[in-house]
Amino acid sequence: MPVLFDGGCRWALQGKNVTYGIELDDENRLRHAYFGARLPRVTDLPKADSYHFPHESPGGPGVRYEYPAWGSMYYREPCLKATFADGVRDTRLVYEDHKIEEGEVPRLIVGLRDELYSLRVSLHYRIFEEQDLVERYAVLENVGGEGITLEQALSAVWHVPPGSSYRLTHLAGQFAGETQVYREEISPGKKVLESRRGITSHHANPFFALDWGDATEDAGEVWFGALGWSGSWKISVDHDVRGHPQVSGGINDFDFSWPLEAGASFTTPFFVGGYTSDGFGAASRSLHRYVMDHLSPTKGPRPVLYNSWEATLFDVNEEGQAALAEKAASIGVELFVLDDGWFGERRDDRRGLGDWWVNRKKFPDGLDPLIEKVKALGMSFGLWVEPEMVNPDSDLYRQHPEWIYRFPHREPTESRNQLLLNLAKEEVREHLFEVLDGLLTGHDISFIKWDMNRPFSEPGWPEAPPGRQREVWVRHVWGVYEVLERLRERHPGVAFETCASGGGRVDLGILRLTDQAWTSDNTDPYDRLFIQEGFSIAYPARAMMCWVADPEKWVRNREASLSYRFHSAMMGSLGIGADLMRWTEAELEEARELVEKYKQIRDTVQEGDQYRLLSPREGRTTAVQYVSRDRSRSVLFALCGVRRFTEPEPRIFPRGLEPDALYNITVEHEPVTGAALMRRGVEINLEGELSSVMVEITEVRAG
Ligand code: DGJ
Repeated sequence: MPVLFDGGCRWALQGKNVTYGIELDDENRLRHAYFGARLPRVTDLPKADSYHFPHESPGGPGVRYEYPAWGSMYYREPCLKATFADGVRDTRLVYEDHKIEEGEVPRLIVGLRDELYSLRVSLHYRIFEEQDLVERYAVLENVGGEGITLEQALSAVWHVPPGSSYRLTHLAGQFAGETQVYREEISPGKKVLESRRGITSHHANPFFALDWGDATEDAGEVWFGALGWSGSWKISVDHDVRGHPQVSGGINDFDFSWPLEAGASFTTPFFVGGYTSDGFGAASRSLHRYVMDHLSPTKGPRPVLYNSWEATLFDVNEEGQAALAEKAASIGVELFVLDDGWFGERRDDRRGLGDWWVNRKKFPDGLDPLIEKVKALGMSFGLWVEPEMVNPDSDLYRQHPEWIYRFPHREPTESRNQLLLNLAKEEVREHLFEVLDGLLTGHDISFIKWDMNRPFSEPGWPEAPPGRQREVWVRHVWGVYEVLERLRERHPGVAFETCASGGGRVDLGILRLTDQAWTSDNTDPYDRLFIQEGFSIAYPARAMMCWVADPEKWVRNREASLSYRFHSAMMGSLGIGADLMRWTEAELEEARELVEKYKQIRDTVQEGDQYRLLSPREGRTTAVQYVSRDRSRSVLFALCGVRRFTEPEPRIFPRGLEPDALYNITVEHEPVTGAALMRRGVEINLEGELSSVMVEITEVRAG
C-alpha cells in the first residue's frame, strides 16, 4: 500500500525505496516525522518531535511543522501568513480530517483548520512510487463569512534529518548562460533562491538538492525538489546552529497579497520532492522519468527541427524560407519552424509585437504557400509567437494602451522595446486565445514556439481595486497556463516549446503544458555543455532543445567542427539553427548522415536514463551516457573542451548496463559484458581541443 495510516495519528507515503512520514502531536498539530530510505511499516516512523530540544520555545527550530503558519512563537520561514478580518495576524492550524485516494498515483489529503478562524488548509500529497517522488501542494480555503488576506502561501516545506554538514546544490545563471550548477556548504542563516521577475528567470531555477557534503553522481544521500511555477518563485533554505535545515518553496511572497473572500480558495503550485541514497545522478533520473511519464502532455520522441532565427533574424520572406526548407528537408529535418519576423510591421525588434497578422510584403499570399511547400517536402510546420507582449509601435497597443501592466503617473519601462500585456484581464486572455486559435485553425501548424522576451516591471493594474492589484504576479502565470490549456484542448495535435530569451521560463509548471524548452540563446557547442549539464540536473533530454548552429552567430563566436556541434546538440532534442544556404555540399552530406544517426539513437537519448559520467566543470572532457529503459541500447557522447597542460585522457566508465549481458561497443572489436564496461571502463581517444566522439553500446541478442 503506497499510503499507510496507523488508524490514529501517523501516515506514511511509500515509494519503491523511500518513506515520507507525518504525525499529529499531542496538540493535534501536524508535524513532519521522516523522509528517507523506505521503512516497511507506519509504526517504524520515528516520533515526530524526537528532535525537539526540551527548553525550546513552542516554535523553536526542532519543531518541524508540516505546513508551518506564522503565529505563536514560530520564527522560521512559514508556509502560511494570513491576516483575518479583525486584524489578527496569527494562524494556528490543527488537524481536521484526512482522505486517502487510491489510483494510478495515490493521494493523501490532510485537512487542517485554524483553531478559531475560518481558514482551512488541505495538504495534498501524491506519491509517485516508481520515481520515489512526493508531489505536494496546498489548498487554502476561506470557509467562513469574512475576508482573509493571504500574505504568504508557499507550496510546501521539506525537512531533512538534523545535521550540520549539509551542502546545497542549485542552478543559477544569466541570459545565454542558464542553469549553471552551484554547490556550497550551508551554514546557519537563510539562503533564498528566487525570481522576482514574473517569470522563472535565467538567473535562478526552482530546483534544490541537499546532501551531506559527500554525495557523488552515483552514491550518497540526496534530498531534492523542483517547483511547478513559472512566475516569481522562492525557495528558502533555512538552517540553524543546531542543525535543522528546512527548505520551503512556492510563489514568492515578495509583493504578494491575496484577498481570500468568503467561500473562496487558493491553490498553490506543486512542489515535488525526492530522496535517494544513490547520488545526484539518481535524483535527476527520477525527475526525468516523472516529467516524461507523468507531467509532459505528450509522450514519444520529439522530431528533428529546423529553426530560421539565427539564419535570417527578422529578415524572413516566403522565398528565403522556402529555400531554407528545401535544404532542411534534404538533410532529414522533420519540422520546419519559422521564427520571429513574419507578422505585422515586424522589421526589427522595435515594432509589430501584438499584430499577429501575416505581413503581406514578406508573404504575399499568406503563410499557406510556405506551409504547403514545407509539407510537400515531407516536414511539418511550426511558428514562433510572443503572445504576452506588445510593442508600443503596434496596432494592438494603439487600440488598447490600457492592456499593459502600468502604474498611473509612471512611464512604463520598455525592455527590448516591448511592454507586457496584463493577462490578469479576461479580455486580454480571450484576445490571445482567439488570435492563436485563429492561427492554428486557419493554417496547418503543428508546433508553436511560445517566446517571452522581457520580465515584469511596474506590475500595476489600475482598473482593479488597490487591494487586488498584487494578484497580477499569480494571475499572469495562471493566464499563460489557461491559454495554453485551452489551445491544447482545441488543437491536440500541436506541440509547444517554452522559450523566454532562451531558457528564461523552464520549470515543472510550464513543462506540464509544453513539450520542450528552448534551452538557451547561447548555441555555442562548448558553452552548451555547461548549460545542458545544469538543465539535466532537473529536466530530461527530451525537453532540452539543442540546435546545431554556425560558428559565427549572434550570441557567441567559436570555431568548432560540424561533428562537434552535432554531438553537443545530439545530447538533447536535436534541432538545426544554422544558415543552411551557406553550407557546402560536403557539410550538408555530413549533416544528413548525422541527422540519420540521431534518428537511430534518439529513443535512447530522449527516453532513456541519463548518466553524467564526466562533468565539464571538473575536467577537459565531458561525457554523458544514455541507456534505454530495457538496458539493451546505450549511447555515450564524449566531448573534449579546452586542453590545459598535459592532462591525461580520462578513462570513461559507463553506467546503467546489465552486468551479465554482452554488448557490442563501437570503439572495441570484441563484445564485452556490461560488468566489464562499467568496471574496467572504456578508453576513448579524443584527438584534441573541441574533438568529440559518439559511442554506441548495443546488447548482443542471442539467436
Ligand atoms: C528569443 C529566442 O530565444 C530566440 O530563439 C528567438 O526566437 C528570438 N527571441 C526572436 O525574437
